[in-house]
Amino acid sequence: MSLLPPRSICVCLHVLVLYFQLQESQQTVADFRRYIENHTRNSEDLSRKQVRIYQLYSRTTGRHVQILGKKINANGEDGGKYALLVVETETFGSRIRIRGKESNHYICMNKSGKVIGKPSGKSEECIFIEEFLENNYTALVSAKYKGWYLGFSRKGRPKKGSRTAQTQQEVHFMKRSPKGAAEWSEDFRFTPVTKRLRRARRLKASPHAG
Ligand SMILES: *[C@@H]1O[C@H](CO)[C@@H](O)[C@H](O)[C@H]1NC(C)=O
Ligand SMILES: *[C@@H]1O[C@H](CO)[C@@H](O)[C@H](O)[C@H]1NC(C)=O
Ligand SMILES: *[C@@H]1O[C@H](CO)[C@@H](O)[C@H](O)[C@H]1NC(C)=O
Repeated sequence: MSLLPPRSICVCLHVLVLYFQLQESQQTVADFRRYIENHTRNSEDLSRKQVRIYQLYSRTTGRHVQILGKKINANGEDGGKYALLVVETETFGSRIRIRGKESNHYICMNKSGKVIGKPSGKSEECIFIEEFLENNYTALVSAKYKGWYLGFSRKGRPKKGSRTAQTQQEVHFMKRSPKGAAEWSEDFRFTPVTKRLRRARRLKASPHAG
């Protein structure tokens, strides 16, 4: 049995300490991840969502998106009961679910790009991401199928997601309060403005900028 030189002992100890530190930090990371998961799950149960009611005015039809049930079109009259939309926004980000107040069906887009109303909005197919465009219109892109937008033809029929693009008028909307409903105006104070849009406005306001 030979004695180890002191330097080797030192290195061994060092490796041992490093090993325990690593174990500990991995444990902490795992705990933290579980905490985040738990917290996220809980916050979904508690309604940390923001809910707004408005109409979606279609640029192509000059009318409003209406959810009749399974069927959805953009031929709704201003103030029509099927055109009243309950929009649920998650606390963070711009992911939304859109439900018809009257029909209780959600706007969803399936794998074929078809726009359909579904009684449950749980699926990722029923989540859209709001995009605020430079022209002040809003576009809604599927959270599941990247690049597929909610859009309506001139006749008000839903367009297949795969045939849409952000630049088409068919996918441009304006959020509007229902006709003669002054109490809804409250909702519009919270209409988000993108940084880009704000900057564009600032630049326009001060001719010396840029
Ligand atoms: C997360 O939830 C599980 C079971 O629901 C629980 O056992 C665990 O202790 C929780 N972890 C944290 C860090 O809250
Ligand atoms: C999408 O919905 C349409 C209309 O309901 C249906 O005909 C089609 O089969 C669906 N596609 C998929 C992949 O579920
Ligand atoms: C967008 O709206 C702002 C004010 O709300 C206005 O100043 C600007 O001209 C609008 N832009 C377009 C392209 O209509």
